[in-house]
Amino acid sequence: MNSDIRKYTALFVAQRLEMGEKEWFFQPRFTFTAAKGASMAFPRSAADQKTSGKPDKADGEITCCTPECTNAEAVSAQKTLEELREAVIKCLRCSLGDSRKHFVFGSGNPHAHIMFIGEAPGAEEDLQGLPFVGRAGQLLTRMIESIKLRREDVYITNVLKCRPPGNRDPLPAEIEKCEPILIRQIEIIRPRIICALGRISGQTLLRSSATLGALRGKVHDYHGVKLVVTYHPAALLRNPQWKRPTWEDLKFLRREYDGMEIS
Ligand code: URA
Repeated sequence: MNSDIRKYTALFVAQRLEMGEKEWFFQPRFTFTAAKGASMAFPRSAADQKTSGKPDKADGEITCCTPECTNAEAVSAQKTLEELREAVIKCLRCSLGDSRKHFVFGSGNPHAHIMFIGEAPGAEEDLQGLPFVGRAGQLLTRMIESIKLRREDVYITNVLKCRPPGNRDPLPAEIEKCEPILIRQIEIIRPRIICALGRISGQTLLRSSATLGALRGKVHDYHGVKLVVTYHPAALLRNPQWKRPTWEDLKFLRREYDGMEIS
């Protein structure tokens, strides 16, 4: 394509974005970047091409075309946590995007060896845009410190990045849409070990319906990374009798970590 066509196509695309258009594509097959966060690509097969001009949002094969679209290809293309955060922060792939106050990406050391993964942001996290900052978060900080680490040494995030209304359990469709972001975070950070906090996080990550009791005390594998499961700090606030077994889990995590050769 010659440079004039490129220039005028870029202008056209920028205007349409400004006018609030969210999705559309041209017939020719090429990838075109209009502005930061707004790249367009085109269907791969004739069957994918729709006369309505609307790519199918549910089709993970179609490359992202709007800042709100965070399909698997757009997510896996990001190289750093900051790029990934920028690419997904406006995500509207599920309805939680409409009700959230903030997208809660995660926080901590981008080179952490240990990652803690909770379920989903709560009210306080939604307000602040940071994971585990409410009462459960304060307990998580103490749990981390109990194994001689500092909160800023580890990385903390959740399976879902947006708060489910009323703190209800995540829905399978929400997990399916959000998990690629978590997987990319793990690929970028490359932690040596992950600690899943609570039954929902453990079951979701491990695709298991086993009880928390059955998941605890074992080293599992999550996308090539060791994973252990313990109680969720919010559950410990309600059931202090679980603090003792949680302490055992944390020591188990620490022993596993200490036994690793870190290059
Ligand atoms: N509970 C979670 O699972 N995650 C948070 O960030 C806060 C509470």
